[in-house]
Amino acid sequence: MKYVITGGAGFIGSHLAETLSQNHGVTVIDDLSTGRMENIQGLIDKGAVTFVRGDINDAPLLQDLFTDADGVFHQAALPSVQRSVKNPMATHEANVTGTLHVLMAARDAGVRKVVMASSSSVYGDTPTLPKHEGMTPGPLSPYAVSKIADEYYASVFSDLYGLQTVCLRYFNVFGPHQDPNSQYAAVIPNFIQRVLKDQPPLIYGDGKQTRDFTYIRNVVQANIQAMEGDCQGAFNIACGERIDLLTLARTIMDIVGRDLEPVHEAPRPGDVRDSLADISRAQAAFGYAPHYDLKAGLRETVAWFRNH
Ligand SMILES: NC(=O)c1ccc[n+]([C@@H]2O[C@H](COP(=O)([O-])OP(=O)(O)OC[C@H]3O[C@@H](n4cnc5c(N)ncnc54)[C@H](O)[C@@H]3O)[C@@H](O)[C@H]2O)c1
Repeated sequence: MKYVITGGAGFIGSHLAETLSQNHGVTVIDDLSTGRMENIQGLIDKGAVTFVRGDINDAPLLQDLFTDADGVFHQAALPSVQRSVKNPMATHEANVTGTLHVLMAARDAGVRKVVMASSSSVYGDTPTLPKHEGMTPGPLSPYAVSKIADEYYASVFSDLYGLQTVCLRYFNVFGPHQDPNSQYAAVIPNFIQRVLKDQPPLIYGDGKQTRDFTYIRNVVQANIQAMEGDCQGAFNIACGERIDLLTLARTIMDIVGRDLEPVHEAPRPGDVRDSLADISRAQAAFGYAPHYDLKAGLRETVAWFRNH
């Protein structure tokens, strides 16, 4: 098969590129706004992927890249709730206008299916746990709005034009290649980097907030299964277990072999309090099963950060 990965120099996209390129032709498009060449340079050097530096809002470029593609894994976006609170327009342009360009180019090129990255943030702060796909969305940030808008566009493109679409609602993905240095870094790379440097984990709020952390290998598997199956719609992709940030910090310190007292700062606007996924819909639709649990994923991730 021939696949295009948008955002393939980013954290999730580069892992997808690595796995898919073992059996398929892979082209990556990325503007490197948050992604990094080092994530895929090895694959480019081996000739395993073709890399194109470009913007998903460049319609003629997309049209060209999607010709002959069997499927598109759409990962490109400006991630981070906090970034979107600061600059809603930039998030909208990359995440919503960009996704519309991807869907239109896929439709026009006759691509069979687009599997795209959505987010657990679309649920907002509903007290009901676990969160399931039948719940009414309640976005709390421009980022979450952008992801639910993308889902509506995907669904409308399926209905109107027959383009198959799947939206995967990722719940806090972590693993190697995740950038710990950005001011919008996710919590796990941030904790690991600090603890490895003998600095205490930095927690926004009391640390009792919970998340359903999902190891990257589970997410890659979900993407491939969703692409290969006939399913359409929105699906939670998570582990189906949650942990509070204080316990997470303790677990990472145990793996690294340090004992530090976390420091706390004020909670951040737009962050949700608790998150836990019901993953039964993805299990039923395309056989998704998270083979890596949190601890197994953390051990691999800490080992990777030690070496990089
Ligand atoms: N990491 C998570 O926990 C998580 C959770 C929920 C959803 N997601 C979604 O998963 C996807 C991948 O996220 P990630 O964590 O790998 O982030 P990332 O920042 O590492 O990857 C995003 C990639 O998209 C590229 N990009 C951004 N705007 C672009 C544009 N206009 N044209 C071309 N490329 C562009 C960036 O350069 C980057 O390489 C995103 O859609 C994100 O919203 C991630």
